[in-house]
Amino acid sequence: MPKTTPPLRHFLQFADFSRDEIEHVFERARVIKDRFKRYEPYQPLTDRTLAMVFEKASTRTRVSFEAGMYQMGGSVIHLTTGDSQLGRAEPIEDTARVISRMVDIVMIRTYEQTKIERFAQHSRVPVINGLTNEFHPCQILADIFTFLEHRGSISGHTVAWIGDANNMAYTWLQAAQLLGFTVHVSTPPGYALDAGLAPAGAHCKVFDDPVEAARGADLVTTDVWTSMGFEAENETRRQAFAPWRVDAAVMTAANPDAVFMHCLPAHRGEEVAAEVIDGPQSVVWDEAENRLHVQKALMEYLLLGTSVQ
Ligand code: CP
Ligand code: NVA
Repeated sequence: MPKTTPPLRHFLQFADFSRDEIEHVFERARVIKDRFKRYEPYQPLTDRTLAMVFEKASTRTRVSFEAGMYQMGGSVIHLTTGDSQLGRAEPIEDTARVISRMVDIVMIRTYEQTKIERFAQHSRVPVINGLTNEFHPCQILADIFTFLEHRGSISGHTVAWIGDANNMAYTWLQAAQLLGFTVHVSTPPGYALDAGLAPAGAHCKVFDDPVEAARGADLVTTDVWTSMGFEAENETRRQAFAPWRVDAAVMTAANPDAVFMHCLPAHRGEEVAAEVIDGPQSVVWDEAENRLHVQKALMEYLLLGTSVQ
């Protein structure tokens, strides 16, 4: 049967997709996950190749994309800065032109968002953001899909973001604007949201006190105090962020059936207390697993469009 190719689309930030597209990905993730759990082979991407480019470390992103592509019948090429010409200053535009003539889809984890945008501008194939300094859209797909599984649609609900104004926080804010929910944000003094990255509007409410931010939340979430690439600030951040730990007091302020999420890797005793991440409200392992299912749905959508079964 001839394969059809949908129009070229990239997923560089959450706002690149419409609400309908995000909902399509969630529905397909549900179907694909269900088949996977029943050991039912689903291999619509035979002969398709994914190139993964990592300029930063990864466990979940690498394993979920690599396993996901193989499970769907395709194959994977793994590149890092150190073992490719990227580490020897080949222009990103030239790298994009070459790689995208040889593979069907590309996932990149890098530093500045502008770098992945430049790659996409010169790519013949879909490009997926596997994390930049500014955004982590695949993680938020997994997080919202996890909320959907545990509590139903996230629209109209409240998410409390406690901690750093980082790639995860900005992606939560984009998702809130697109899907119609509210994010309560609490960051330490000196670490406020960058207005240039945070879409303004009623979906974002800023709180000085992390406990107040958690009040009435249906989902409480946080992330490392120091993201990859900012390690030089580690010690200063450890001191500034100490009162922003998600502990039992924070969870008690949230709704009684609130779930706790963390994109992982986590540092128990820093941004989250062990009693929370290992406690009954935590859904972090489902959240991590769902990276696999949502990204399979994402790759299916980018490569095959919506005419799938
Ligand atoms: N959450 C996440 O992206 O994990 P990795 O850094 O291990 O890929
Ligand atoms: N904010 C973290 C997320 C890691 C998955 C970082 O960028 O390092």
